[in-house]
Amino acid sequence: MAIGKDQRTLTYADGVITMIDQTKLPQTESWLTIDTVAELVGAIKRLSVRGAPAIGIAGAYGVAMAARLHDPATETSAFDASVAAIREARPTAVNLAVMVDRVTPIARTDAAAAEAEAHAIAEEELAASVAMGDLGADLVLELAGKDAVNAMTICNTGGLATVARGTALAVIQTLHERGVLTEAIPLETRPLLQGGRLTTWELERMGAPHRLIVDSAGPFLLARGAADVVLIGADRVAANGDTANKIGSFSLALACQHAGIPFIVVAPESTIDMTTASGADIEIEDRGPAEVISVRDTPVAPPETNAMNPAFDVTPVELITALVTETRVVRFTNGETL
Ligand code: MRU
Repeated sequence: MAIGKDQRTLTYADGVITMIDQTKLPQTESWLTIDTVAELVGAIKRLSVRGAPAIGIAGAYGVAMAARLHDPATETSAFDASVAAIREARPTAVNLAVMVDRVTPIARTDAAAAEAEAHAIAEEELAASVAMGDLGADLVLELAGKDAVNAMTICNTGGLATVARGTALAVIQTLHERGVLTEAIPLETRPLLQGGRLTTWELERMGAPHRLIVDSAGPFLLARGAADVVLIGADRVAANGDTANKIGSFSLALACQHAGIPFIVVAPESTIDMTTASGADIEIEDRGPAEVISVRDTPVAPPETNAMNPAFDVTPVELITALVTETRVVRFTNGETL
């Protein structure tokens, strides 16, 4: 099945989650049908579904599914263990825990209401993507002071990472739909190549002009004026505005400061974690050496090589021009706060 431009990448019906398998893209568009908690946890851990809002939605559906499999009233410990496994599948993106915690109390008393709540979450995230696209595009054009812009981005923040359209990539899609995107510049995003594999795939499908770059080219190209703005998503925005996002985001922020280019975070309100004071308190997932010493199962280092593999970094709020959510634009460089 070929996925449409704005088609949902994750759906749920009758106890079954259907999702495009992101690990197989761009070569193969294959869909997973998931009807056990263990399968869902595996899919989240290996990044078959990934991106903060998308794993939040998957987690919400997972709790609804768990309530069907284990009646919370009579099989409480099995239900609780399922919820805990889903909640802990990945630590950095706050959306997963937030959405699991939102659906779980409902699932304890009413499985049908839990499914309705999970569907409501997916609808909210979709509406948020559209709103972020509009607010973000307006802001980019204002800050760039130009009729058309080049936009650099990292990782994948599109429909694959949400339910459709996305966050930072929704802004790029909106700029393109308005006819004011000159070029998108995605970074390939080692080690798992979400930019090279997924963002290019989405840009191609939306017909947006783009050129892929290796991660280390980003700061240099910004210094040379190749982009008017950098747009990133977020896995967790701390109360002070510090933002955890895909590893490599921080280097782009430093380069933006050097070049005098706006660095904009685009994320739904659900990604803001007011219980985490600053970026120093955000747990950063380390995914282990295997992803660093090989690329798509091809070794790129001696097999015994040890490696560090932080999946995310934290950009301090001082380097962030603004945060765009579905309801507001917070201009940190103007002294605004969350
Ligand atoms: O490890 P990933 O691919 O899940 O990381 C995803 C990101 O860092 C995204 O930028 C973030 O989740 C925002 S997605 C709209």
